[in-house]
Amino acid sequence: MKAIELQAPGGIENLKLVERPTPEPGRQEILIRVKASALNYRDVEIARGSYHTQFDLPLVLLSDGVGEVAAVGAEVSRFKVGDRVCGTFWQRWAGGSFAMVEATYQRGGPIDGMLSEFALLDEQAAVLAPDNLSDIEAATLACAGVTAWHALFTEGRLKPGETVLSLGTGGVSLFAVQFARAGGAHVIVTSSSDEKLARAKELGAHDGVNYRDNPDWGQTVLALTGGRGADHIIEVGGPQSFAQSLKAAARGAQINVIGYLGGSEGSINPLDIFRRQVTARGVPVGSRESFEAMNRAIAVNGIRPVIDSVFPWTAVAEALRYLEHGSLFGKVALDHTR
Ligand SMILES: NC(=O)c1ccc[n+]([C@@H]2O[C@H](COP(=O)([O-])OP(=O)(O)OC[C@H]3O[C@@H](n4cnc5c(N)ncnc54)[C@H](OP(=O)(O)O)[C@@H]3O)[C@@H](O)[C@H]2O)c1
Repeated sequence: MKAIELQAPGGIENLKLVERPTPEPGRQEILIRVKASALNYRDVEIARGSYHTQFDLPLVLLSDGVGEVAAVGAEVSRFKVGDRVCGTFWQRWAGGSFAMVEATYQRGGPIDGMLSEFALLDEQAAVLAPDNLSDIEAATLACAGVTAWHALFTEGRLKPGETVLSLGTGGVSLFAVQFARAGGAHVIVTSSSDEKLARAKELGAHDGVNYRDNPDWGQTVLALTGGRGADHIIEVGGPQSFAQSLKAAARGAQINVIGYLGGSEGSINPLDIFRRQVTARGVPVGSRESFEAMNRAIAVNGIRPVIDSVFPWTAVAEALRYLEHGSLFGKVALDHTR
């Protein structure tokens, strides 16, 4: 089979198309023919060698992908040949708390990912893809989608009428907009672009705030909520936006600490957490149980992931550079059929 390896010493230019033996499934494994895969910022960082963890190379990148089951091991009971499945981000977190995670079992680093013609998955690390989605759409769910779902529903227990503040219009944040809207929330989005704010409103957001034109955007969120603030915050900006997120928070709000798109340096006053009785929570993608719950919601509510662009899978280097430098709205996916 063909696969694309990140070869030592790392760097997007060191992604190489290679021939590898097609693996045979062990007794509780499934072999999938990958139909589509999708990129996350993590993949850019791993390829560049700037990710917070260094993995052994060569490595097949990408945590996210969907495929058709081509072969099953002798004891597989969850899937049959022909099923359409997505792989999970964590290979050994079926459900329950994060204490159940085995940190070395993440797909796309350190375990080989989806950037390949075939991928071998433990049957416990796969879910059926939602029927209402195309392969390209289903490929985008494993990391960004599950992260948003885990934050708002698995942990956040979102209730109708609460306010969700989603920062930026990246992959995680747009899933959060769609899920929050389906959950009956008042949805506020921030963006550096008025055009993207308009598109986020078409997707279901009620209000938008331009964080570039309006550096004190926390105050604007308070004004949009009659002074009450947001109950759930999708915090992807990191230390530089956290102080504004605290300003935008309702009493008892939940701030989901997810990313650091604005940089990893900065400071906050912990007393602001105390004053508003805020809960700040790190979000580690989510479990298979969360993935399955999310897929039911996607099917019932007819939710379709937002796709910014699709590249042939062998053009992954171009796609990673686009993700790194482009002005995106939605996910970047790879088509493995071309
Ligand atoms: N903890 C986890 O489980 C987990 C899972 C997935 C991702 N992440 C992390 O979460 C972050 C978001 O991931 P993603 O896949 O959604 O990224 P993405 O798709 O690359 O998001 C890019 C968007 O983020 C927005 N942005 C950039 N700088 C910002 C800032 N300072 N404040 C607010 N928004 C800003 C921009 O929106 P506008 O163009 O609208 O301004 C930009 O278009 C990344 O840091 C990623 O590594 C963490």
